[in-house]
Amino acid sequence: MVNLRAMFITFEGLDYSGKSTQAKLLHEYLKHKKIKSILLREPGGTKISEKIRNILLDRKHLEMTPLTEFMLFSASRSQLVSQVIKPHLKKGYVVICDRYYDSSTAYQAYGGSLELENVISVNKTATGNLKPNITFFIDISPQKAFSRSGKRGSILDRMEAKNLAFYDRVYRGFKDIANKNKKRFVVINGTHTIEQVQSRILKTVNRKLKI
Ligand SMILES: Nc1ncnc2c1ncn2[C@@H]1O[C@H](COP(=O)(O)OP(=O)(O)O)[C@@H](O)[C@H]1O
Ligand SMILES: [Mg+2]
Repeated sequence: MVNLRAMFITFEGLDYSGKSTQAKLLHEYLKHKKIKSILLREPGGTKISEKIRNILLDRKHLEMTPLTEFMLFSASRSQLVSQVIKPHLKKGYVVICDRYYDSSTAYQAYGGSLELENVISVNKTATGNLKPNITFFIDISPQKAFSRSGKRGSILDRMEAKNLAFYDRVYRGFKDIANKNKKRFVVINGTHTIEQVQSRILKTVNRKLKI
């Protein structure tokens, strides 16, 4: 494997936007190019982080407060940064992460009830202020996300409409975060085909990695 340049790349966006699809395709592309890379998903990626993931995803934990949830995400992320992301960057890997702290900011501050400044501050602490070099925001609207999830799109029942209001705040949050962090963010129109989205991503990655 040739060792070109360490780079930290994250994927952000709503569920069903195509993050996991594109993260996997990028990982495969880099492997094909013989560039050392690692693909991670949040929450998880270390023994401790996977245990935290199980707590977060347990449907029985209905009493979990938004703050506890955020702290658990942050703890999982903190362990992942120290144990996996930083060591791999040191060894010259391209680290690809399917979601990172922008998701906490979008879902729990913009979408939820937590103070934006507090979330940003904990994000910094949890990651030792390790920022991605590139963040791809795969931009699809909540309506489009709902239609991909097999929902009926425009005809929403009461529950779905409530969810839609939440996802709308999250979506606007991602857009706001992208606007405030223009140096690292690349906004990709996620309504195009998988191949079109990938080619847009590869254009940026090739340029940054000088492939
Ligand atoms: N550009 C695209 N156009 C149409 N369908 C897509 C596109 N990208 C992904 N999908 C499909 O949408 C679903 C969600 O994709 P996924 O990559 O799992 O999204 P995420 O990880 O953001 O939740 C999958 O069934 C996937 O095949
Ligand atoms: Mg996914």
